[in-house]
Amino acid sequence: MTERGPDRIPEGTVLSERRPGERWRAEFPYHWDADALVSRRELLHLAVYTSGALFAGTALLAVLGLLRRPPRAAPQPVARVEEVAEGQAFYFHYPTPDDEAVLLHLPGGRFVAYSQKCTHLACSVYYQPERGRLFCPCHDGVFDPVTGEPVAGPPPRRLPQIVLRREGDLIYAVERVL
Ligand code: FES
Repeated sequence: MTERGPDRIPEGTVLSERRPGERWRAEFPYHWDADALVSRRELLHLAVYTSGALFAGTALLAVLGLLRRPPRAAPQPVARVEEVAEGQAFYFHYPTPDDEAVLLHLPGGRFVAYSQKCTHLACSVYYQPERGRLFCPCHDGVFDPVTGEPVAGPPPRRLPQIVLRREGDLIYAVERVL
């Protein structure tokens, strides 16, 4: 076996007698012959296998995410038509009691509903009929109340829409779509 490295300093040598380069080697010896060296080829194999495993894991998670769609929520009564005057909003929860949503009675008589959760950092948005907008006070995000699209501020996407169905004078939420 080849003796490598300058850590082979004879026993009994007084440190102060050594040259500066030898002193730190004696104090912090590195035993080359005991080292399990990794070749460049082995390192490259490791990098390729690790990247492949990460890619496969990511692809698997993406496929599972597509397969495990959330179950469709049951239709849920939201409000009676006469409860929400034209130009006003009605706040409710859908599809779960933790999901805040807003029903808008737009000028002209049309009803629309959205998730109340801002698509920037999830603050609640509020209807401002006098300004014709849905407003997020956290970072001045603005959404179009007719389409739910962001029109100002940092929100990157439209508000998730809640599909409505009207039966008599009752308005139902039937589905939330992204
Ligand atoms: S959370 Fe709504 S604009 Fe930032």
